[in-house]
Order: sequence, then structure tokens, then C-alpha cells
Amino acid sequence: MEENRNLYSAVQPTNNLTIGNYLGAVKNFVELQNEYDCYYAIANQHAITVRQNPAELRQKTAALAALYIACGADPEKCVLYVQSHVPAHSQLCWVLNTFTYVGEMERMTQFKDKSRKHADNINMGLMDYPVLMAADILLYQARYVPVGLDQKQHLEIARDIAQRFNNAYSPTFTVPEGIYMKVGAKINDLQEPSKKMSKSAENPNSSVFLTDDRDTVIRKFKRAVTDSGSEIKYDPENKAGVSNLLSVYAVFTGKTVSEAEKEFEGLGYGEFKLAVGEAVADKLAPIQAEQARLLSDKAYLDGVLKTGAERASYTANKTLNKVYKKIGFYQI
Ligand code: TRP
Repeated sequence: MEENRNLYSAVQPTNNLTIGNYLGAVKNFVELQNEYDCYYAIANQHAITVRQNPAELRQKTAALAALYIACGADPEKCVLYVQSHVPAHSQLCWVLNTFTYVGEMERMTQFKDKSRKHADNINMGLMDYPVLMAADILLYQARYVPVGLDQKQHLEIARDIAQRFNNAYSPTFTVPEGIYMKVGAKINDLQEPSKKMSKSAENPNSSVFLTDDRDTVIRKFKRAVTDSGSEIKYDPENKAGVSNLLSVYAVFTGKTVSEAEKEFEGLGYGEFKLAVGEAVADKLAPIQAEQARLLSDKAYLDGVLKTGAERASYTANKTLNKVYKKIGFYQI
């Protein structure tokens, strides 16, 4: 039999991605497509577990699809699709619900956190979130699932549910393995450089988003916190701000940190920060331009998503049919 190289990943179309998310996640997805049979979903059904503005949700779904492609996801090499276009996700989720215990779901860390954050809307979907995620993964017989550490508990539950079902019937699902990526590990907050850059920082100058225009990117880097002294030297212990900027510059230009140090030798902080901002803006510009071009070509984008949904449905329905047979759903 052929080796299973299926890989599954999904992103909710709700959050703005920072340059750290780009480096930690989206860029990796693009590299993975050459080695694995990749399914990349836009998880809009997960997104509605907290209230969304409909027009924004629609727009962000298209924007995320365009971003994937602009970053290099090749619709010929991977299956790129929107979760709600493949009904099998909800269908398998229902079956898996009957193999999942209420107590397990109540204990999930993210459910508890989100229940606190959205105390006025602790809906069943929020609690069922991990089961839908299990359905996502198991439908595609995914062997590999690259996720951030925050999703580790969800992946463990997906494995448990798969094993439970396989033991109750016969081997049906591939038990998935997590590939734990350090999401945005290398880039820190521009205002508090000892902390990781986050998409939900309070200070708007803390994080640079993939959607920031050139002026905004440059302004944020100009305002980045540096350290006392004037030397541009990589020393994360004593010069957290300068070191962070040096690594951003290195990653965005493909140079090494010591090459960057040499390049900036003798320059002042002002010139240094401007150069880092410009390097990041230069790298983002073509991605943003391509994303905008794709968004204005609705026929093309919709075509990609339609083909993606068809290819995803084909694989997903094969698994769903097996499940329906095994559990005794009457076939006609
Ligand atoms: N819950 C994931 C997140 O917020 C997104 C997601 C949905 C996902 N379904 C998935 C990730 C399946 C991996 C596999 O990051």
C-alpha cells in the first residue's frame, strides 16, 4: 500500500495574522505542500462559535484564501477549501459527538477560557469545537497535523476519538500525529521585546500585521523600543529590543544575524529601525499586492475554492460512507 502522507491544517478566518504568524505558520504550510498531500481549510464553521459580523466573516474568508495563495500555496499542489463547502464536516461531527463525553469537553482549557471571555454566549458549538476539529482531521485520514501548542489538547482528543471508534468497530480512521510548530517563536513584541509578538496585544504598535501598509509598518518599527546604549549588537539578555529587530531583519532578508550586525555597525538606532521597517515592508508588498489582485478576481478565487471543495468532498465522503456503514445507517 502507498504510504499515507496526508497532512491537514486549518485556520479560522477571524484573526489578523502578524508577521510572526506568517513566519511560524503560513510560510511553513507553503513548504509542506511539496512533501505531503496537504489539505488546507478555512475553518469558518469554527469561527461562528463566537459571534461574528456576517459581512466581515464573508470578507475575511475570501481574504484568507487569497492570502494563502499569495504566500505561495499552490492550488494545484494542495487542496485549499472552505470548511462550510464540504457538508461531510458537520455530518461526521454529529456521529463523533456520540463518541465524545460531555465531561471531556467541559475540561478543555480553550472551552473554559472562551466561556470566561464570552460569558453571555456559552453555546453548544463552543463546547463542541474540539469534536468538529476531530471531524476535520479524521475525514481526510490525516496522519500529520501541524498546529501550535495551544491546539495540543484538541489534537489529543481527536486521537482519542479516532481510537475509540476504531476499537468499537474496526480500523476506520488514521490516528493523527501533531507536528508542533513554534508559532511566531522568533519574533517578539516591538514595545515589550521580552514578550512574544501577539495578534491581540493592547498597544497597537506592539505587533505588525500582514495587512499593514508600508507607512504603518515603517512607523511601527520607528517606534519600536530599543535599549540603552547605542550599539547594534545581538544580545537578547541585555538588549532585547535591538536583538529582536536584528532577528526580524535577518529573517526577512535571508541574511544571518552577524551579517546584519556588520551592516549596521556605526549606525544610529534611528537609521537601523528604518532599515528594518523597510525590509519588512519590501517583503510584504508583493504578498499584499498579490492578495489584492486575487481578491479583485472573484471568478478565479471562487474557481479555486470550488475545485478545492470538490476534491476535499471526494476524500471526505469516502471516509463518511465507511463510517455510516459501520455504525449501521441504512443504505439506499
Ligand atoms: N482550532 C484551530 C485554531 O484555532 C483551527 C482548526 C480548525 C484546525 N480545525 C482544525 C487546526 C483541524 C488543525 C486541524 O488554530
